[in-house]
Amino acid sequence: MEKSRRQAYGDEMKARVEEQTGLACIVLAAGKGTRMRSSLPKVLHPLAGKAMLAHVFDTVLPLGPERVVLVVGPDMDQVAALANGYDVVVQEPQLGTGHAVQVCRDALADFEGDLLVLYGDTPLITSETLARMRAARHASDGAALVALGFRSRDPGAYGRMLLDASGRLERVVEALDADPATRSIGLCNAGLLLADAGFLFELLARIGSDNAKGEYYLTDIYELAARSGRPARVVEAEEAEVLGVNSRAELAVAEAAMQRRLREAAMASGAFLPHPDSVILNHDTVLEPDATVEANVVFGPGVTVRSGARIRAFSHLEGAVVGANAVVGPYARLRPGTVIEEAAHVGNFVEVKNATLGRGAKANHLTYIGDATVGAGSNVGAGTITCNYDGFAKHRTEIGEGVFIGSNVALVAPVTLGDGAVIGAGSTVAEDVPADAVMVVRADAKLKPEGAKRYRSKREKQKG
Ligand code: UD1
Ligand code: MG
Repeated sequence: MEKSRRQAYGDEMKARVEEQTGLACIVLAAGKGTRMRSSLPKVLHPLAGKAMLAHVFDTVLPLGPERVVLVVGPDMDQVAALANGYDVVVQEPQLGTGHAVQVCRDALADFEGDLLVLYGDTPLITSETLARMRAARHASDGAALVALGFRSRDPGAYGRMLLDASGRLERVVEALDADPATRSIGLCNAGLLLADAGFLFELLARIGSDNAKGEYYLTDIYELAARSGRPARVVEAEEAEVLGVNSRAELAVAEAAMQRRLREAAMASGAFLPHPDSVILNHDTVLEPDATVEANVVFGPGVTVRSGARIRAFSHLEGAVVGANAVVGPYARLRPGTVIEEAAHVGNFVEVKNATLGRGAKANHLTYIGDATVGAGSNVGAGTITCNYDGFAKHRTEIGEGVFIGSNVALVAPVTLGDGAVIGAGSTVAEDVPADAVMVVRADAKLKPEGAKRYRSKREKQKG
């Protein structure tokens, strides 16, 4: 067989093995996360707007696990709520990572096949790496136990991996239990592992808690496996992918890594971020090809930017759709329920909430548009405010097509401006304006020629 055919054959065989071997996942999330110093359980802290734990669930999905078991601590209903139909096992008391896997034994009693153990605090892991772990398990020289490792210049608190001469895992030593020589090892334990379920539970039944933390360490299974003549194989991942989040500082590092990943993905699919490092994306931000996002733009949840649109610098968007070729910003704020239609313009210091700005419409300066519809081609002058709230309820402002609103207009909702209406600058409009009408609401002008001179001489006399 020539190489490519051999490769294809190999891939097919691998796929068959994986098909025949069921996969179950255990996601550990019972840890107290004390190092976060937060009332929010650690795994619920968000990365790019989504809980760390939800990122982990999304990553296992493409592997098609037949079972997923989430391990939570007592009083972690908020965490369990994310399980979304998966099994939830409560670990009480929390006696360590090894114990956390052990308590899943009953839930998985009828399961045979591969068990993948993931940590809820290791949210940057990718499906590709998990697939590589599976491949290492099912290769012709595969191992019953596969551990995920990574190399770090600054291994800090991670467990260190000690390999034997043939590169198999001899044991993992936790940083707290390591002597200086062991601590200087750069190969670290990412925590994740894949094993034959029966073999894993057999090993776990034999671990103890005689260590610095007095906990049942999951990592103790590696030495037991090696001693039983079935040492684990190590699959290596990039450090950025296996970062464990234990503190606020580590959460910030993970956020930066997630942001890099999202920006790279956005650009790979054709959006342009000329200053990518300053753009903050949400996990669900959709930037279509040829959308441009300038510097220092922040995306909250639920934003789509269509092709050819430009989000200018220092804008903040959430829950908004920006149509093709529209321009938003600089310094614009789009809040939930905003739809900016094709080629519309939203300029500086303009806030839009629960409102649609029609095709080609413009609100270029210092404006608040809330609970409103602005028809196609309308122009909203500087300083215009839709007064949507009367202190008790919100009301809508309906602006037709081709309407011209002068500067500094207050539109007191509920109010409707018909198509083609013109509103004079400075007006406070509290009643509906028919199509093509002009509405000006202003006090009468008083002009007094030379009046300023008379005023000054009067005041000077009074003073003197
Ligand atoms: C663990 C590993 C360490 C590895 C590091 C990678 C052990 C003993 N150590 O250390 O080798 O380098 O992860 O990030 O496994 N959890 C429970 N129940 C418990 C304790 C923890 O479910 O009783 C969960 C936590 O919620 C967390 C995960 O297990 O999601 C890891 O626990 P954590 O305390 O963060 O372990 P590390 O000290 O980071
Ligand atoms: Mg951790």
